[in-house]
Amino acid sequence: MVKLIKLSTAFATSIIISLSSTAIAADGAATYTAKGCPACHGADAKSPILPAYPKIAGQAKEYLSQQLKDIKSGARNNGQTVIMKAIMASVSEDEIKTLSKYLEGLK
Ligand code: HEC
Repeated sequence: MVKLIKLSTAFATSIIISLSSTAIAADGAATYTAKGCPACHGADAKSPILPAYPKIAGQAKEYLSQQLKDIKSGARNNGQTVIMKAIMASVSEDEIKTLSKYLEGLK
């Protein structure tokens, strides 16, 4: 009986894990669109509207989230950062995680 409970708990956990990773992918795409990111970086995150804007698809999530935090806080501030800083004001820490994970998963 105990063994059965353990097994079903493991099964339920694996379902929850697979469901939540699907949810992250869906959330990521929705957040990317809702926040207006495609306007500059392209729908696929690798077709920026200007050559000077970065391609961000497939970049490591650790790097992406650090850059997004630095743009938001003002720690990153070069001639172009101002273009994105206003957008980051409406992006939360949680959304940074969701977006970074989503972008890392793109080819
Ligand atoms: C108005 C145009 C614009 C929009 C909208 C925009 N970005 Fe950007 N983004 C830029 C520009 C320009 C840079 C380069 C900034 C710099 O050089 O510091 C940049 C930089 C970045 C970087 C750093 C890339 C790197 O290689 O270091 C990431 C990540 C990023 N944007 C993600 C996003 C996400 C996610 C959104 C939506 C929440 C978004 N951007 C919305 C223009 C935009």
